[in-house]
Amino acid sequence: MTAALSTAAPALPPVTPGFVHAPVMLEATLRLLDPQPGGRFLDGTLGGGGHSAALLEAVGPTGLVVSLDRDPHALAAAGQRLAPFGAASLRLRGRFSDMVALAGAHGPFDGVLLDIGTSSPQLDHAARGFSFQHDGPLDMRMDPDGGESAAELIDRLDEEALADIIFRYGEEPRSRRIARALVAGRPWSRTAALAEAVAKASGWQGSRTHPATKTFQALRIAVNDELGELERALPAAISLLRPGGRLALISFHSLEDRIVKGFFRDGAAIGTARDAYGQPLSPPTLRLLTRRPLDGAEEDPSNPRARSARLRVAERLPSA
Ligand SMILES: C[S@@+](CC[C@H](N)C(=O)[O-])C[C@H]1O[C@@H](n2cnc3c(N)ncnc32)[C@H](O)[C@@H]1O
Repeated sequence: MTAALSTAAPALPPVTPGFVHAPVMLEATLRLLDPQPGGRFLDGTLGGGGHSAALLEAVGPTGLVVSLDRDPHALAAAGQRLAPFGAASLRLRGRFSDMVALAGAHGPFDGVLLDIGTSSPQLDHAARGFSFQHDGPLDMRMDPDGGESAAELIDRLDEEALADIIFRYGEEPRSRRIARALVAGRPWSRTAALAEAVAKASGWQGSRTHPATKTFQALRIAVNDELGELERALPAAISLLRPGGRLALISFHSLEDRIVKGFFRDGAAIGTARDAYGQPLSPPTLRLLTRRPLDGAEEDPSNPRARSARLRVAERLPSA
């Protein structure tokens, strides 16, 4: 088996300070996934390759770690980092919701990891258009070759649909005012201009977080269909696990964690309908290894990116 990149990354100016992403909650993730020599793992979110590298160290040369990412820049950078692991590392470009088609032939897996959200280089690189702090083109696509950019999305939607996105995905109470300003100022092409307009529309008085934080989060989630990706990936991941295999999920905001929590609770038959003898009507398919999510701030205090992270892990039961 050879390490593979399905598409070369388009040229991008060098990232400052480098394509560096400190893996979040690495120790807790490894403790709960418990990789063993010769094991097979699927990392659905390669990013900077930190989690994949640690899994590769653990499984050794007889194991396999298949790592996916839809961002060609992540694949190119992590490819260099993981090249020394040779044939034990297989890297593929694609969405993790397509993991069965992309990686199914290499399973079943002892563990699947999803560390969802954006990587530090995506956020820090102005040219990717995710950041309200560094001016750049209003893009926000993790896969720069596919789908609609944030600028195109704002151009296409009417005010009500934009307000809904900002309210639902950003949990922004001033969504209507902000949507009105976005529609009035169309077309948008730069992140800094958009951030300024959002700040003005929201009546910002100088709070600790930038007033565009929630709106940018909402647009990013919509552009990349992040919640839909997660909803489709969860059952796909379970289907790729061997009985006793584990799914570890690191999420970064409550919208994501709610989806994971619901999926895990249903799988563990917690709160589901019971028969007259108190047995769940549909038997559990998962065993929860984390009844409550592990908290990034406690598990990984030295990593600022771990502050809002939550880790949940479940094991596939033989009955699944
Ligand atoms: C938080 S980073 C992962 C960091 C990684 N665990 C590490 O140790 O460096 C998330 C990565 O997942 C990728 N990603 C997010 N959603 C994705 C999806 N639906 N399909 C494939 N990759 C995705 C992003 O492009 C990003 O590189």
